[in-house]
Amino acid sequence: MNMVSKDIYLAAQLVYNEEIIAIPTETVYGLAGNIYSEKAIRSIFDLKKRPLINPLIVHIGSKDQLEDLTTEIPDLAKKLIDKFWPGSLTLVLKKKETVPNFVTGGKNTVAVRMPNHPITLKLLDLLPFPLAAPSANPFGSISPTSASHVATYFDKKIPMVLDGGSCQNGIESTIIGFENNLPVLYRLGAIAIEEIENEIGPVSIKNFEEQNPSAPGMMAKHYAPETETLVVSNIHDGINYYRGKKIGLLLFNSKISDDSIMHQEVLSLNGDLKEAASHLYAALHRLDALNLDVIIAEKFPDNQLGRAINDRLKRAAASKNNLNIVNQ
Ligand code: TXA
Ligand code: MG
Repeated sequence: MNMVSKDIYLAAQLVYNEEIIAIPTETVYGLAGNIYSEKAIRSIFDLKKRPLINPLIVHIGSKDQLEDLTTEIPDLAKKLIDKFWPGSLTLVLKKKETVPNFVTGGKNTVAVRMPNHPITLKLLDLLPFPLAAPSANPFGSISPTSASHVATYFDKKIPMVLDGGSCQNGIESTIIGFENNLPVLYRLGAIAIEEIENEIGPVSIKNFEEQNPSAPGMMAKHYAPETETLVVSNIHDGINYYRGKKIGLLLFNSKISDDSIMHQEVLSLNGDLKEAASHLYAALHRLDALNLDVIIAEKFPDNQLGRAINDRLKRAAASKNNLNIVNQ
C-alpha cells in the first residue's frame, strides 16, 4: 500500500506526465487525469471499465477557470456557484469547443465542479489544467471514501493515491443542469435539493432511470456491494424473512436487539442525515467484506440527505435476484 501518499508535488508531477492518480475530495475519492490528455482520459475509462460515452466531471481549482470551459453561465448557475463553491455541487453547462469530446462523451455540455478539499485545491492550484475525475471505483461498485478503499480497488494499477483522510460528506456531488434555462436535477447528492431550491426556487427532478440510461450514476444498479442487498421500510420484516441466514444491517440511528444478527452498522446515533450520508459508503464497504448472505438496509427519512441516501440504497439493492419484499 505504499502507493498512498500525502505528497502533493509528486501528485502534480504525475498528472502533469499524463498519469492517473486518485485524489481526495469532500464527497468521494476520484480517479484524476489532465482533461486535455487523451491518453490520461482513456486510462481513466480503462481503469474503471466504464463505457466511453459516459461523461466525466471536470474539477477546477478556482471559479475563474469556468470561463475556459463554458460558453454561457446562466444567472441561476451564478447564484449556485456563489453559494456552494467550493463544494459538492456539479453544474452541467454548455461547453466550449476546446473542452475535449473524450471528456464529455461527445455531449455539447460539460459537468464542472470546484471541490472543497484543501489538499486537492492545492494540487489544482499547482496545475495549468483542470482534472477530470470520476469516483475512484470500478464501474458499478461502491464509491470510495478513504484512501484505503481506493488502494484496495486499484492496487498497483495506479502510481499514487493522494491521501486526504476520510471524505467529509461521503456521498457524491449533487448534479444540476439547465434545460431551456430552467434548472434540472440530474443526480441527488451531498447538497440537499431543499438547500438548492432555497437559493433558486423550484428545480425539476427527472425520473433518473428513464432519463438517460447511459449516465452511470443514474443507472438502476450502481454503487452496489457484491453481497445481496435489500431496502425495507420495516427492518423486522426483513430480518424475519431472512431468519437463519447470515444477516448484516444498515440502520439510521439505533441498533436492533437480536442476537442472530451478525453485524450492525448505525450511520448516525444522533439521527443526523448529513452524518449518516458521510458514513454510508464506509459502512457498506465493511458489511460487504463480511461474507454475509444478505445486507438489509432500512429506508431513511425521505427528505434532505435522506433522499440521496435512499437513492443510493435503492441502486445498491437493484438486482434481479432481489426480492423487493417491502420496497416501494
Ligand atoms: O462527487 C462527485 O461528483 C465525484 C467526485 C470525485 O468529484 N465524482 C463523481 O463522478 O461522482 P462520476 O463520474 O462517478 O459521476 C459523474 C456523473 C455521471 O452520472 C455522469 O453521467 C454525469 O456526472 N455527467 C457528467 N457529465 C455530464 C453531462 N455533460 N451531462 C449530464 N450528466 C453528466
Ligand atoms: Mg461514480
